[in-house]
Amino acid sequence: MKRVTVLGATGSIGRSTLDVMARHSDRYELYAATAHSNLDELLSICIKHRPKFAILATDAGAADFKQRLRDSGLSTEVRVGVEAMCEASSAKDVDVVVAAIVGAAGLTPTLAAVNSGKRILLANKEALVMTGGLFMDAVRKHGAELLPIDSEHNAIYQCLPEAAQRLNDSASLAAHGVTRVLLTASGGPFRHFSREQLQQVTPEQACKHPNWSMGRKISVDSASLMNKGLELIEACWLFDLAPGSVQVHLHPESIIHSMVEYVDGSILAQMGNPDMRTPIAYGLAWPERVDAGVEPLDLFSIGKLHFEKPDKARFPCLRLAEEAFALGGTAPAVVNAANEVAVDAFLQGGIRFVDIPVVIEKSLLKGSIVRADSVETVIEADRVARQYASEAINELAGGVIVP
Ligand SMILES: NC(=O)c1ccc[n+]([C@@H]2O[C@H](COP(=O)([O-])OP(=O)(O)OC[C@H]3O[C@@H](n4cnc5c(N)ncnc54)[C@H](OP(=O)(O)O)[C@@H]3O)[C@@H](O)[C@H]2O)c1
Repeated sequence: MKRVTVLGATGSIGRSTLDVMARHSDRYELYAATAHSNLDELLSICIKHRPKFAILATDAGAADFKQRLRDSGLSTEVRVGVEAMCEASSAKDVDVVVAAIVGAAGLTPTLAAVNSGKRILLANKEALVMTGGLFMDAVRKHGAELLPIDSEHNAIYQCLPEAAQRLNDSASLAAHGVTRVLLTASGGPFRHFSREQLQQVTPEQACKHPNWSMGRKISVDSASLMNKGLELIEACWLFDLAPGSVQVHLHPESIIHSMVEYVDGSILAQMGNPDMRTPIAYGLAWPERVDAGVEPLDLFSIGKLHFEKPDKARFPCLRLAEEAFALGGTAPAVVNAANEVAVDAFLQGGIRFVDIPVVIEKSLLKGSIVRADSVETVIEADRVARQYASEAINELAGGVIVP
């Protein structure tokens, strides 16, 4: 029996993870579940999965939540705060940690799992984008088993020979005959929108992804192509690749989740219906395979698959992520933080969709980029970038303070 901590259990990835686990209750048991604001969902999770710990990000609503647990006759213990999340990620009783908190908030508990040598199913790409080399060094140092469950990186992982799947092994993919990684992207809901149309889009439109059902932040990132920029950085760190070896292909059907090109001219692709339970089940069971509850793919009904080049002029977030990775040091953390603040402002109606890259670029130009020599340095860069991004938003909003 594997004991699993799900960081971000109440989110889209968290719920999909619990669905897969429930299908295999003879193999996986929930040790701890964390939540931020959705305590109703956390209570339902506790009732269904009976974890040892329920962890709240803040103490807002904690007393009431404890009472509701007692009323339900549950013995689940309630803990509060980042420290408690870190304990749940590093406890000796825990075998697997699913890192599914959105954004920089997931960094510290994810690193706690890495530093304790756990199997980590990484969805929280922002943690890796921020700390890059520090994160991967810690994976190697502590013998953690890092399994990417971002669908694209999971696809790449699946297309690698087993010897190369050992991410702790420093042998380069070139030694395994890999020449390029083809990272697919749906292109989001605005793929064919003109610049003029992009000025008018609403948060509701941005969150309506054509193929995937996801949380609001990643949905906006998909629409702006920042998600692909973050994923490009994620792929470079995970697989030790130069950015030139990763090529983004828009593939609107989201059937091929990414591809690996080999020196002999072969391209291996991983395909499947767009359902995150496939990479989650893969990460939980690897190197075995288990039923994920996903509908089999019917290629006859799909008929055709299409591929396009991304347009970085209409979607500058992809370019900004690439530039940040090329700059190195704390630049990716700055871009990530500014993006989180800008997306939040867009979702709250404070800025337009097209202002998101403007806020990011201003934040990147304003701050000084330093060597990312410690996690503390990165967290400080994140803090300052959030401040710059808020200032940029206030300037755009004509001095009106956006919450
Ligand atoms: N959804 C997908 O299909 C998908 C695919 C690939 C990668 N990912 C990545 O997976 C991560 C999660 O995405 P998602 O779509 O599942 O997001 P989501 O549905 O918005 O869920 C986010 C989770 O993080 C928690 N959370 C939010 N702010 C927090 C804070 N300050 N402290 C602690 N916990 C906090 C939320 O708690 P409450 O709900 O209780 O507020 C929720 O459990 C992201 O990094 C995303 O890029 C997602």
